[in-house]
Amino acid sequence: MTNPCYYTCLSCLIMTLFQLIIPSQETQVTPPPLPILPLPNYAQLKWQQRELIMFLHFGVNTFTDSEWGTGVENPSIFNPTNLDANQWVDTAVQAGVSLVILTAKHHDGFCLWPSKYTDHSVIKSPWKNGQGDVVREFVNAAKARGVDVGLYLSPWDRHDKSYGLNKEYNEHYLAQLQELLNEYGDVKEIWFDGAKGSNTPNMTYYFEDWFAIVNELQSAINIFSDAGPGVRWVGNEQGFAGNTSWSTINRTLLSIGGSNADYLNRGDPKGTDWVPPECDVSIRPGWFWHKSQEPKSLSELLEIYYNSIGRNCVLLLNVPPNTQGLISNSDVQRLKEFTSAIDTIFSTNLAKECSIEASSQRGGKNGGFGPENVLDDDNLWTYWGPKDDDEEHNWIEFKTKSDKPLRFNVVRIQEAIGLGQRVKSHQIYVDGNLIANGTTIGYKKLHRIEKGVVNNAKSVKIEIIESKGTPLISSIGLHFDPFWW
Ligand SMILES: *[C@@H]1O[C@H](CO)[C@@H](O)[C@H](O)[C@H]1NC(C)=O
Ligand SMILES: *[C@@H]1O[C@H](CO)[C@@H](O)[C@H](O)[C@H]1NC(C)=O
Ligand SMILES: *[C@@H]1O[C@H](CO)[C@@H](O)[C@H](O)[C@H]1NC(C)=O
Ligand SMILES: *[C@@H]1O[C@H](CO)[C@@H](O)[C@H](O)[C@H]1NC(C)=O
Repeated sequence: MTNPCYYTCLSCLIMTLFQLIIPSQETQVTPPPLPILPLPNYAQLKWQQRELIMFLHFGVNTFTDSEWGTGVENPSIFNPTNLDANQWVDTAVQAGVSLVILTAKHHDGFCLWPSKYTDHSVIKSPWKNGQGDVVREFVNAAKARGVDVGLYLSPWDRHDKSYGLNKEYNEHYLAQLQELLNEYGDVKEIWFDGAKGSNTPNMTYYFEDWFAIVNELQSAINIFSDAGPGVRWVGNEQGFAGNTSWSTINRTLLSIGGSNADYLNRGDPKGTDWVPPECDVSIRPGWFWHKSQEPKSLSELLEIYYNSIGRNCVLLLNVPPNTQGLISNSDVQRLKEFTSAIDTIFSTNLAKECSIEASSQRGGKNGGFGPENVLDDDNLWTYWGPKDDDEEHNWIEFKTKSDKPLRFNVVRIQEAIGLGQRVKSHQIYVDGNLIANGTTIGYKKLHRIEKGVVNNAKSVKIEIIESKGTPLISSIGLHFDPFWW
């Protein structure tokens, strides 16, 4: 008896040998071009793809109707009647958010977890008879929903007696940092600012020690501050990045609490470090919940969206829980409108109904870098790339296949940033007329087109005017935003 497997394996072997001798043409694709440094690291790339993340400002200020606590408030005021971290995270999930950051401690020094290093915490509050732990409830709710967590631990502490004494306070701060990063599982973003008391100008934060401890205790965590190293501040709290927005910048020119806001806002095309901008803004006028305040309108939120996510940034939107310990219904409803508007605008891509052509493509027809790559769902690793040595302006063009004109007012362009942010300037033409200019693109650039500029469009051409090396475009969309006009 002959084992049938024998024949199968033999034929396999022959096939393999055959393939080694005569490589099949179809499987031979051109390698990607060399990267242009600096590049994002693993954690930064994951962070960028989140697009929208959520901030939760909650603490004693929620109960005192203030934005900055004094540090001498009575912990008995902290008594949320119905705290439910599941509701916070459900709200985030509904908005498509994959990372939520909680203020574990704000400037007042009141800790939302039972820190061993202070008496100003949930332990001294009536909430759950001092047995509660907001950070734990938050982390558990997030974990149950597959959402990542981030924490803010305010450097400025208006309660702790050691504040103002460099060695003592840095030891205190590091002790609390270790509690948070050792005892609550994975933390994906840690948020630092440089705020200080005006009566303690000489207080020095040992940021290098803090960062070293963070990187020791957590892998794949992004450290946010004015100066990175993981993620940088965008230079304002309105949620607006610069019209030109580079992820690259020179860290040597930044300092926490002392950077030039314009430089943070724009980044630096010659920057030697990849430190992308994050736009922090609150859905309400204040960071903390106040009875007298209402959430921003849908059009204000969309304006923020276009000026942050549409300008190569991640949007960190603050949605503060109220005195019940819940996100107010008005905020939940506004977020639903916002999420649904984004979905309405971007779920249809008119470019998919078009024929597509490009100035050239790397590796020729079967090289794997054709213009059709800009229409698939991968916004990083499949992309259109022209030939390396093309000196002409590179372009990609969409033409409607039917007689039906293209009705759009938003053009979305994304670069394959995994190989570096390259494009320095670009232009958009409709039926041969220049309708929009832009500088760099980055992960995502959204152009909104004024009413009346585009009529009966049959073709849309995007021309890359200037780029560091060959441009690599991962995604393009032509969308209609009914909230714009
Ligand atoms: C801060 O340090 C400077 C320089 O050592 C000193 O002159 C000043 O008195 C200090 N200020 C305070 C408030 O301690
Ligand atoms: C950033 O560093 C690069 C490389 O050293 C340099 O060419 C560039 O001028 C610097 N940017 C600024 C604003 O100084
Ligand atoms: C594009 O930029 C050029 C040169 O700065 C300018 O003349 C033109 O008006 C701009 N066009 C649009 C549509 O922004
Ligand atoms: C953004 O920059 C482009 C190109 O420089 C310019 O045409 C456009 O008017 C700018 N838009 C704003 C809002 O500044």
